[in-house]
Amino acid sequence: MNAKDQSSDLAGEAADKRGPLPEHIAIIMDGNGRWAQARGMPRIEGHRRGVDTVRMVSETCTELGIGALTLYCLSSENWKRPQEELDFLMELLQQYLVEERPLIMKQNLRLQVIGRRDRLPEKVIAEIDETIRVSADNTGTKLVLAIDYGGRDELTRAAKLLCEDVQAGKLSIDQISEQSINDRLYTSRLPDVDLMIRTGGELRVSNFLLWQLSYAELWVTETCWPEFSRIEFERAMESFQNRDRRFGGLSVGQ
Ligand code: IPE
Ligand code: IPE
Ligand code: MG
Repeated sequence: MNAKDQSSDLAGEAADKRGPLPEHIAIIMDGNGRWAQARGMPRIEGHRRGVDTVRMVSETCTELGIGALTLYCLSSENWKRPQEELDFLMELLQQYLVEERPLIMKQNLRLQVIGRRDRLPEKVIAEIDETIRVSADNTGTKLVLAIDYGGRDELTRAAKLLCEDVQAGKLSIDQISEQSINDRLYTSRLPDVDLMIRTGGELRVSNFLLWQLSYAELWVTETCWPEFSRIEFERAMESFQNRDRRFGGLSVGQ
């Protein structure tokens, strides 16, 4: 049986009975190091192989018409790792942005990056900006890379931006609302996350999109990122379609 035969029936007849596909999917791409070490390879091999999975998920999102895909690439806390691993991650990121650019264009993806820029090497920033520039008019899935991103850092930044506006007289304290906070997040132009997937089995959010995940449906798999397959990705989406999302209210018909 090939992968297509095994894949979930996301768009077929059975799908009619289920809810819509998620508009915004966010993924904590975890387990690269463990995957490599379990195979007697250095941790960085896991990161390298993880790029293939990135290609697969972005392609799947394009095919299914998913609005936005946010991928956690580097957290604010990942700077605690050995310099050698960080250097490799920066090289890999730069390589991804250059080598995958034609595919990003072919897949009609529009690149966005969220997180701090000031701690990234200049050459990485340059490739980020170039890929954002060339893909700006693409109309397919928004591919959002979270690089040096932390939810607490983002909220702290939003608080500072609000204070600046209050201090400058552009905003009164009474005007501070969920909307005005949301407007100052990196993700201001994205919808809230509908489905959050974490590979590698950990049951935590690790400082990812703290605000945006409020009512996200969660899906965790033991599978490490380099081995995460299209079949499993579709299974996560199918599970999402079968969830009863109440947003604090009651089910339809209750
Ligand atoms: C996730 O994989 C990728 C990054 C955090 C950059 P890890 O490197 O955290 O892999 P594990 O969780 O140690 O296996
Ligand atoms: C989360 O994974 C960050 C990324 C995948 C980029 P971590 O491996 O850093 O998270 P913890 O340390 O297990 O919580
Ligand atoms: Mg990890």
